[in-house]
Amino acid sequence: MHVRRRDFLAGSAALAIAPCLPAAAQAREFRLAAASARVNLVGTGYPDTDVWTFNGSVPGPVLRAKQGETLRVRYVNQLPQPSTVHWHGIRLPNAMDGVPGVTQKAVEPGGEFLYEFRLPDAGTYWYHPHARSSEELGRGLYGALVVEEAEPPFADRDETWVLSDFRLDREARIAPDFGQMFDASHGGRVGNTVAVNGRVAEAFALRAGERVRLRLLNAANARIFRLRFEDHVPVVIALDGHPVEPHPAPEGIVLGPGMRADVMLDAIGKPGSRHRVLDDWYRNASFRLLDLAYEPVAMRDGPVRVAATAPRANPLAEPDLARAARLKLVLGGGAMSPELQRAAPEERQRIAQRMRGGDLWTLNGVSTREHVHHPLFNLARGRSYLIEVHNDTAWHHPLHLHGVAFRVVSEARRPWRDTALVAPRERVEIAFVADNPGDWMIHCHILEHQGAGMMATMRIE
Ligand code: C2O
Ligand code: CU
Repeated sequence: MHVRRRDFLAGSAALAIAPCLPAAAQAREFRLAAASARVNLVGTGYPDTDVWTFNGSVPGPVLRAKQGETLRVRYVNQLPQPSTVHWHGIRLPNAMDGVPGVTQKAVEPGGEFLYEFRLPDAGTYWYHPHARSSEELGRGLYGALVVEEAEPPFADRDETWVLSDFRLDREARIAPDFGQMFDASHGGRVGNTVAVNGRVAEAFALRAGERVRLRLLNAANARIFRLRFEDHVPVVIALDGHPVEPHPAPEGIVLGPGMRADVMLDAIGKPGSRHRVLDDWYRNASFRLLDLAYEPVAMRDGPVRVAATAPRANPLAEPDLARAARLKLVLGGGAMSPELQRAAPEERQRIAQRMRGGDLWTLNGVSTREHVHHPLFNLARGRSYLIEVHNDTAWHHPLHLHGVAFRVVSEARRPWRDTALVAPRERVEIAFVADNPGDWMIHCHILEHQGAGMMATMRIE
């Protein structure tokens, strides 16, 4: 009895002290060099392609760290132009956000920058430059950042598919027509060659019975994907890094540029069988992304018996919808815009003139092509906000906010996201607590739209 009591006392004393000790800051260190390289994108039998890479490959390396750790990345710019690295979806200090002219000076050719920040949330994130984005991402600069949970949900394997596309000519050279007017005023620079992890893909090997966690990331400039897995029922467990109630997606898995989905894929096919993964987003242009190709030998007799689970929720502040301040964000501009159709003749002339000058898109009527501080919204730190986003254009826009994650409250599952795909004429409501101080970008992640005006900042102070 006495011994037990002593143990108890010792135990409680240890508990009282332990949380006061600073946790030994675990840091993950990487070096990322942005530089040109030649890689094979299309496959053997086709010429190599001159690309821009992180550490020599497209996509760049998958950076992995654990939730709560510090990421320390020495970035070296060996490109012929200034650049940065932005950590898409990570809630980090403003100075680490990688936006030239707003959060840091662009890193000149030959220069370096040390990015260092804590990773508060687990999930699937990514990194890419934030300078001349259409060209820099269009030439291959992007990579996945995986933040692992302390206790990940059960899966036999954890795989990342970085989806992207390239606009290639017959010699497999990247067409240099970045930011041209037609792309910018329509759906953006959609490529003609789709890649999975930087290669035109043939097959993804599976073993019957296994459960694979697939981290899907759309790193393309403009292409929207809607994936369908023939004969399979992938279960969505996270969106833009954040867990959701696990659910199948009978309507297909839709990924606008910048967006991610983690799915659990149970290999319910037979050994030796093949099943297609299709993308049918664009009308009359559906295609086979790749085949799920089963190995001749099964991994287990049947599928995993327990249902797929989602990871534990990330530590996000819940917006107070009853007391949230309401804001409106109108997406305007572009070809065939409703605004143009509504306009009186003189107004129409004014819009046409604005567009001829390259200001094709607007946020609340303002077109911003450079990264500038002048904020569209001033938000009070700690306050809840609800933004009604109205897409008053004829095109889809994946609207991305830096610095915060928001709930899409107009959607049934109210997922946390950092990028919301807004359909033509649609209204979407997003809500968040403005808890991260700084000037943060708001922009369309179709990079040619961003470059032609669909960009702004919000200030949290
Ligand atoms: Cu993924 Cu401002 O970007
Ligand atoms: Cu857009």
